[in-house]
Amino acid sequence: MLKGHATADGTAEYAKRFPGLPGNFRPMLGNSVSSIGIGTYLGDPDVETDRAYEEALTAALTGGINLVDTAVNYRFQRSERTIGKVLAELVAAGKLKREEVVIATKGGYITFDGGVPDNPRAWFEDHFVKTGIVSPGDLVDGSHCMTPKYIGTMLDLSRANLGLDTIDIYYVHNPETQLEVLERKEFLRRISQIFEFLEGAVAAGKIGVYGVATWNGLRAAPTERGWLSLDELVRIAREVGGDAHHFRAIQLPHNLAMPEAVTRANQIVNGRKTTTLAAAKPLGLAVCASASLLQGQLSRGLPAIVSEAFKGLATDAQRAIQFVRSTPGVDVALVGMKSAEHVRDTLATAAKPPATVEEFMRLFQAPDEP
Ligand SMILES: NC(=O)c1ccc[n+]([C@@H]2O[C@H](COP(=O)([O-])OP(=O)(O)OC[C@H]3O[C@@H](n4cnc5c(N)ncnc54)[C@H](OP(=O)(O)O)[C@@H]3O)[C@@H](O)[C@H]2O)c1
Repeated sequence: MLKGHATADGTAEYAKRFPGLPGNFRPMLGNSVSSIGIGTYLGDPDVETDRAYEEALTAALTGGINLVDTAVNYRFQRSERTIGKVLAELVAAGKLKREEVVIATKGGYITFDGGVPDNPRAWFEDHFVKTGIVSPGDLVDGSHCMTPKYIGTMLDLSRANLGLDTIDIYYVHNPETQLEVLERKEFLRRISQIFEFLEGAVAAGKIGVYGVATWNGLRAAPTERGWLSLDELVRIAREVGGDAHHFRAIQLPHNLAMPEAVTRANQIVNGRKTTTLAAAKPLGLAVCASASLLQGQLSRGLPAIVSEAFKGLATDAQRAIQFVRSTPGVDVALVGMKSAEHVRDTLATAAKPPATVEEFMRLFQAPDEP
């Protein structure tokens, strides 16, 4: 197990090693973090994909990307294990220090072990029910569990997979899934229990901070069932952790095709309606944007207005990533990459400063009258 965690000094030293990436490193949670993070969600649960991720992660971590995003269930734990292998190798080779990188993972979904077993139901019963990790009634939607017992088990599993004593950011994965079936009051009770547990995990040195990683929850309208209120979540964190609570990060999809984080005023902070991105900073929350390329769909065929707004970039993928990392309020644009070639292409964006607000706003201007 690697000891330690990301630190202000370690990440600043890392940033200094990449003078060719101006504007890439920005302050986040007291660290210097690259504006592009590598995600590890997509891909088959097989050895070939493990190898591809090993190469891509190595290219990223040695090329100027010092935030890695994963989840225990991504490729049935294989993504976490691959990250653990690469981190151990790079640290052993003296090419990376633990203190230089921010590692984020998530728990909430039931996961198999490396692949789908022959009899998934029996496997689940043996590994989760008979062991007492999941009780009947805990499971929502057949796959999501948000109890301290389950999250605690997943957290320790993630630490073992990643080979890390301390995970820098630990997210509750898509908590809004539970709102599809639970009344809000019961949902908030479960969130409170989890946040209390995670405050304990911080005290025990198992995690640095915690947060929520979402899909619909922070983009939804307040009238929708799965909507999440940041104000409410922060209030719960304060109740269980005091003013110095560690609920400090959110993750939500944000890209050219899903811009609600910056266009929809679905949060209320201090009695005022505001967007999720505008709400996050005053609430002390770091923001990681997921699905920057809409799972690859934005890597080609973008309209001309995008290349006109973001000049000097060679590919549509680079422009789509530039949109995300330049959005005011976004700390890190997460890009899923299992190809080292894509890592190199993406790093060309990091070599440019983020777009100015003026350049960014060109995307939202009406075209001139003919
Ligand atoms: N609810 C949640 O918590 C949630 C949901 C979704 C995503 N996430 C996180 O966000 C990360 C990013 O999202 P994502 O992986 O779903 O999708 P994404 O980043 O929008 O797109 C990934 C796809 O784009 C391709 N790609 C990457 N760089 C490229 C480039 N320079 N040129 C052309 N294609 C390129 C990748 O190909 P290769 O893989 O072949 O390189 C992959 O197929 C995830 O990996 C995960 O860590 C979290």
